[in-house]
Amino acid sequence: MTSSAPSILATCKQTRFHLLDDNPSQEVAETTQDIDVAGLSIVVASSALDSAEDATKTKVKGKSKAKAEGKELIADGHLRLKAGIHYGLLGRNGTGKSTLLRAMAEKLIPGIPHPTRIAILQQTDQDEQGINAGLSQDRTVLEHVLSSDESKNEAVRKANLLSKAFETEDPLEPVRTIRKIRHQQTEMQLFLAQRNASLKSGARGLQARKDLKAAELKVDASGELLSQDANQIDAETVQTDTQAAVETLQDLQSRLEDMKLSDMEHQARRILLGLGFSESGLDKKVSTLSGGWRMRCMLASVLVQDPDIMILDEPTNFLDLLGVVWLEKYLQQLRDRSETTILLVSHDRDFINAVCEEIVILRDQKLNYFRGNLSAYEQDFEEQKLYWGRMKEANDRQMAQMEASIRESVKVGKKTNDDNKLRQAKTRQKKVDDRMGLQVNAKGGRFKLNRDLVGYHLKSRADIEVPTDEKGALMSLPDATELRFPGPLVSLEGITFKYKNNDRIILEDVNLVVHIGDRVGIMGLNGSGKTTLVRVLTGGIPSSKGKVTTHSRLKVGYYGQHSVEELQDRGRIEPSLTALALLMAEVEGSLNEGEVRGLLSSMGLAGRVVSDVPVSKLSGGQLVRLALARIVWSAPQLLILDEITTHLDFNTVTALASALSSFNGAILLVSHDRFLIRSVIEGKRDIEHKLDDDFEGLEQEETEETKTRRRSVYVLKNGKMIEQQKGVEQFEQSLVKRVQKMLVGL
Ligand SMILES: *[C@@H]1O[C@H](CO)[C@@H](O)[C@H](O)[C@H]1NC(C)=O
Ligand SMILES: *[C@@H]1O[C@H](CO)[C@@H](O)[C@H](O)[C@H]1NC(C)=O
Ligand SMILES: *[C@@H]1O[C@H](CO)[C@@H](O)[C@H](O)[C@H]1NC(C)=O
Repeated sequence: MTSSAPSILATCKQTRFHLLDDNPSQEVAETTQDIDVAGLSIVVASSALDSAEDATKTKVKGKSKAKAEGKELIADGHLRLKAGIHYGLLGRNGTGKSTLLRAMAEKLIPGIPHPTRIAILQQTDQDEQGINAGLSQDRTVLEHVLSSDESKNEAVRKANLLSKAFETEDPLEPVRTIRKIRHQQTEMQLFLAQRNASLKSGARGLQARKDLKAAELKVDASGELLSQDANQIDAETVQTDTQAAVETLQDLQSRLEDMKLSDMEHQARRILLGLGFSESGLDKKVSTLSGGWRMRCMLASVLVQDPDIMILDEPTNFLDLLGVVWLEKYLQQLRDRSETTILLVSHDRDFINAVCEEIVILRDQKLNYFRGNLSAYEQDFEEQKLYWGRMKEANDRQMAQMEASIRESVKVGKKTNDDNKLRQAKTRQKKVDDRMGLQVNAKGGRFKLNRDLVGYHLKSRADIEVPTDEKGALMSLPDATELRFPGPLVSLEGITFKYKNNDRIILEDVNLVVHIGDRVGIMGLNGSGKTTLVRVLTGGIPSSKGKVTTHSRLKVGYYGQHSVEELQDRGRIEPSLTALALLMAEVEGSLNEGEVRGLLSSMGLAGRVVSDVPVSKLSGGQLVRLALARIVWSAPQLLILDEITTHLDFNTVTALASALSSFNGAILLVSHDRFLIRSVIEGKRDIEHKLDDDFEGLEQEETEETKTRRRSVYVLKNGKMIEQQKGVEQFEQSLVKRVQKMLVGL
């Protein structure tokens, strides 16, 4: 049951649940309760570290054996989740968010009571074909989703074993079967006892080790009974064991009835349809699905279980906006009708905001909490930053003034041999020191403010530290090359496209003109032809009708959905290829090494990541940054970006939004990320960024050029491109209406 367990080691000091019964037969019991685990430590064995970011930052601490071998992601952390609350988990790449989620889902954290039902959707490495592991390939989509509830499967499995036993002629078969089931149960108890024994606190630890001994004995005993010779079992035992088998079977059957399997099927259908499956899609074999549809199938499996804790790691990655809006509304409904706790990681800012009521921040190996949604958190952060920034400024100024005046007194005192003045100066210096709290920190070390943002504690005025951002490394794009003569960059006139041997029209009479500085956003559901349009625009495929004209000096930077895969392929073929080497080869001498390094660094890639870490070891976010470097080095006037957020994390999306917002060339952005379109295309700055100086939105100094920028958001639907006068919001509202109809009665 703990498939990939060996690489993660989780321990904790105490939990409020020590008294909770760990009896696995209570798996289906309603035990929705708060999680409260203190002194949590999570260590990952070094072999499990694969991303470059992790590898370069591995700190080996010699404290204990486990630590010496791995990286401590969480040290003395406090995991606190209230039942029924929906949490958004934030943290930079490489801080261990996914590991924490996995440790929870696999019940590796000792303080989480065993009966808690946890379901997880995680991003699996396509290379490992991890997706396949969890899916039985010849099941249909609906069957797969219906079979996802582990506790139900267990009950079904045991019930089947027992009924089969009673169908045989052999009167001893039920005895053997119930003994087998009991043996499996003692083995489960042993697993739990082993986990308990990793609790490290004194008396409890001692008790846990005693329990472990007892559990080992029980497994031995049940194992012995299982292998007992038939002729050695006396009649009386046969009777009691048979009776036990009958009762267990009855119990299982009534439990299965309670689970209302027909309701579950109804629910599973509604969820799958909501996630975009067609009726006929439900009967498709899982093995025939593309990656995107498989992920939707896995997501449906998690939703249908209605677990105590639902863990969603980037659930929107494979969804189009209709799917995202559907999921948002579905999860919002859960708030009212279920006690399910949700913990989710997402790069989609609007999605987090719509779903999460509270925020958990993983940083510096600790977990911090904010009671409020993402906007409230970020707004608070900016205010705190501003407040402490001002405070620090005022404080620094005051200190400088006082010290200058003291120095002046000392100087005058020495010159005039005025002992009185010198004495006074000394007293004042002491006062300054006292007031600034310097005496408590003789070494002049810095006092750190508690940075968790949930109430700052000013411990000393000696040194105020302004909270630093969790933003991803900033990015900035090179200015577009000047065009020698004016004119539109590209224009599409009456573009119509359909594939040969297929009647369906993908694009119909599409017109679009893009000038330098324009911002054009294209949204639309999957299959609406967005990528086809981009490919026609970039000359990848010829249109069936119409005309594409481009400026003769135009340089285009095109980021497509293939861009990251292409880099991954290069990394596989040339395992030692680094980002620097790759780019040096591509610029063919147009830039020298220093310039290439500068370019990579302006994309947020610097140091070892550029010159020592092979491309094959870069994280998704790093690959996107590299892919961007490849398309912007030649300073193009038009950037065409097709679904660029897919591999990015939350902080990088923010960094990208600011970089794009201040680009002086034209941008054509195909995306389902509402935040990205709103900020880059519509030029709107969300309230939470109002105070954030790094974020260049509309509020930045308006030049003639930016004021007259064309900013248009289009939606592609049934081959037509329709401008949205109210931008993203208009499209979103139309989807919300559709979704509300779909969710009636769910
Ligand atoms: C685990 O520990 C708790 C109390 O600390 C105890 O009630 C429970 O029975 C233990 N489980 C096992 C399998 O030993
Ligand atoms: C829908 O589009 C997104 C973004 O282009 C893609 O990642 C996903 O795989 C697609 N989903 C399906 C189910 O095809
Ligand atoms: C986030 O919280 C703030 C303050 O509580 C509230 O005004 C705002 O409407 C919330 N935003 C969303 C998207 O729920």
